[in-house]
Amino acid sequence: MKLIDKTAVITGGARGIGLAIAQRYLSEGARVVVADIDRAAIDEAVATLQKLGHADEKVMGVALNVCDQSSIDAMVEAVTQRFGGIDVLVNNAAVFDMAPVLEVTEESFDKQFAVNTKGMFFYPAGGCAFDGGTRAGGKIINMASQAGRRGEALVSVYCASKAAVISLTQSSGLDLIKHGINVNGIAPGVVDTPMWRKSTRCLPVTKTAH
Ligand SMILES: NC(=O)c1ccc[n+]([C@@H]2O[C@H](COP(=O)([O-])OP(=O)(O)OC[C@H]3O[C@@H](n4cnc5c(N)ncnc54)[C@H](O)[C@@H]3O)[C@@H](O)[C@H]2O)c1
Repeated sequence: MKLIDKTAVITGGARGIGLAIAQRYLSEGARVVVADIDRAAIDEAVATLQKLGHADEKVMGVALNVCDQSSIDAMVEAVTQRFGGIDVLVNNAAVFDMAPVLEVTEESFDKQFAVNTKGMFFYPAGGCAFDGGTRAGGKIINMASQAGRRGEALVSVYCASKAAVISLTQSSGLDLIKHGINVNGIAPGVVDTPMWRKSTRCLPVTKTAH
């Protein structure tokens, strides 16, 4: 029970790795906020967590678009009202497209960088999650990927967005430590989730999906 009395917000927490993190954090005693763009998936995730025996008062589902500052502000406000603040922020939301380099569309490029990189960076840098940086002991965990450590012919933009996540994690860690906030990244290999299943059945596409 390492997380008793801690509140953790998990972006993209409604399925896949985010939902698994939510489950594990609850098992460690945390209060968990499942923050996701997919309202139906949030409701399903909250019901799943409750069915697994996690107490209703420890689980909160909130609609969030990490690309929209007003949505972030509203989520922080709702979580602060219910749980008093945020101790752990897991920046996990991401999207993924496949296309050969010469077929990448500007729309796909912008969407992947908007969600995976900008959506991850402006959240903590805005300070909103941690009372303007005054709440010492906060933790930020950014979800990078092994894809950020090397190029891939069919997922060039996703790889680049995750390389940027690794770099921004390092810079944020060096800067935010003066506020007592610890920043780390995780770079997983392949994990069997909806995102991974999409990639295995994908022929190159140019359409962005959640
Ligand atoms: N699955 C893998 O093999 C793998 C490997 C390495 C890294 N990762 C990373 O792990 C994280 C989770 O991946 P996953 O496989 O569970 O993905 P997933 O697609 O299963 O889940 C991603 C979640 O993010 C949400 N989301 C998308 N856009 C959003 C937005 N704008 N605002 C808020 N939420 C949004 C989706 O609704 C979804 O619930 C991602 O950052 C991904 O890049 C995954």
